[in-house]
Amino acid sequence: MNKNISSIRGMHDYFSEDLDIWHKLEKNFKQVLNNYSFEEIKLPILEKTEIFQKAIGNVTDIIEKEMYSFYDKKGNSLTLRPEGTVGCLRAIIQNNLLYKKKLKFWYLGPMFRYERPQKGRYRQFYQLGVEVLGLSEIDIDLEMILLTSRLWKMLGIHLNLTLEINSIGLKLDRIKYQKELVLFLKQYESFLDEESKRRLYSNPFRILDSKNLNIQRILKKAPSLNDFINNNSLNRFNDLCNIMNIHGIKYQFNPNLVRGLDYYTDTVFEWKSDEIGSKDTICAGGRYDSLSQELCGIKTPAIGFAIGIERLILLMKSLNICAIKKERINIYIIFLGKENKNHAISLSEEIRDTYPRLNIFINFSNCSLSKKIKHAVESSSRIAILIGSNEIKNKCYLIKELKTKKEFYLFKNELMLKIDSVFNKYLSKDN
Ligand code: HAM
Repeated sequence: MNKNISSIRGMHDYFSEDLDIWHKLEKNFKQVLNNYSFEEIKLPILEKTEIFQKAIGNVTDIIEKEMYSFYDKKGNSLTLRPEGTVGCLRAIIQNNLLYKKKLKFWYLGPMFRYERPQKGRYRQFYQLGVEVLGLSEIDIDLEMILLTSRLWKMLGIHLNLTLEINSIGLKLDRIKYQKELVLFLKQYESFLDEESKRRLYSNPFRILDSKNLNIQRILKKAPSLNDFINNNSLNRFNDLCNIMNIHGIKYQFNPNLVRGLDYYTDTVFEWKSDEIGSKDTICAGGRYDSLSQELCGIKTPAIGFAIGIERLILLMKSLNICAIKKERINIYIIFLGKENKNHAISLSEEIRDTYPRLNIFINFSNCSLSKKIKHAVESSSRIAILIGSNEIKNKCYLIKELKTKKEFYLFKNELMLKIDSVFNKYLSKDN
C-alpha cells in the first residue's frame, strides 16, 4: 500500500457491500419518516464556529477538542458540522420558520468530530437526524420513541436494542445538582481516572457517563440528579413513562444518562446495543426547549434525535442482516472484432431504452474471447450476448445463459422476449 495515498485517519470510503445496506436503510428511513409526516431539509456542512460554541457548550468534549475549525480567506472561523441539530435550528431561525409552530424535519449527511478512531467511532460519520419544533406536549416525546421503535422493527433489530431514558430537568436544576456532585466527587478525587479528574473542574456532569467500573461504583453513592429536578419536569417525566407503559414500550430508567451536548432539557434518551462493542449508542436525542431562545431570543420547544449510520450498519452486520444482493450486471455484451463494436453499442442502447432498470455492460477491452467469457461468468450477469460477423450477417445473436451454461441463437425480437422472461421478476420488483 502506498502510504502517501490514503484517506485521513477515521474517514472512510464506502463500497457497494456497505452501500447495499446503506440504501436499504435510507429506503426504510424515508418510509418511516413519511409515515410520521416529516419533511427533508438539506443543510450546509460548514457553519460559523460561534454557533456551535453558543449552542453545544464551551466545556463539552465536542467544543473543547473535537471540532474541525479553520479560518477562511476573510478570517472568519468556520467549522465542519460535528452534529446537525444546531445547523437545522439555525436554518429554521434564518428562514423565519419558527412562527409556523409545528415543524418536523429530517436530514441525513456527514458529521465531523476529531475523536480517537476505533470500531464504531470515526472522524467522519453519517447521521440521520430528526428535529421537531413548536410542540411541547409529551406526546411528541412518545412519538420520537414510537418512530424509532417502528424503524428497528422494520429493520429486524428491535430485539437487540435497549431504550434508556432519563430527565435532566432544567439548566437551573443542573447547576444546583452540579455543586453537590462536585462536593461529593472531591472526596474521591484520588480514585478518579485522569479524564474524570479533568472533568471534575470543567464538566462534572459527564463523569456520570463514565464507563470506568471503579467510578461507576463510586457513583452509586453519589447524590441523584432526580432529587434536584423541579416538580414540573418530574411530573412531565412520570407522565411520559406512563404513556410509554400504555403503549407497551420497554425502557430502562437510567439516572446517569446525561448526554454530551449542553443544549438538552428534560427528556433525554439513548438506544443502545451490546452487539457492537463499547461504543454502543446507535441513536440518541432529547428535548432542547431553551436552545432557540439562547440563539435568537424566541422560545420554542424542541425535541430530536440522531442515528449513527455506521453503527447501525455494524449492528446489522453483526446480526447477519444484509440487504438483498443486487446484480451489478444483468446483461453482458461481447463483440468479436472491432468492426462489430458499433452494432454492440446500438443493441445495448436499444435494450436500455426498452428496459431502463437493467444494468448492461459491454466489454470494450481488447482481451481474448475466453477472457471476456471468464469475466462474464465471474460477474453476476445472467446472460451474455455474443456478437460476431456471422451473427450480424444472419441477423441473430448467440446467447449464453451463464448460470445454466445453455447456448442458443435468437433473432432480435426473440432476444427481447427472452430478456423479458429472464428478468421478469427483477423488472417488476421494487428494488
Ligand atoms: P450524539 O449523541 O452526539 O447526538 O450523536 C448521535 C449518534 O451519532 C450517536 O448515538 C452515534 O450513533 C453517532 N455518533 C456520534 N459520534 C460518532 C462518531 N464519532 N462515530 C460514529 N458515530 C457517531 C447528536 O449529535 C445530537 N445532535 C442528536 C440530536 C438531534 N439531539 C436532538 N436532536
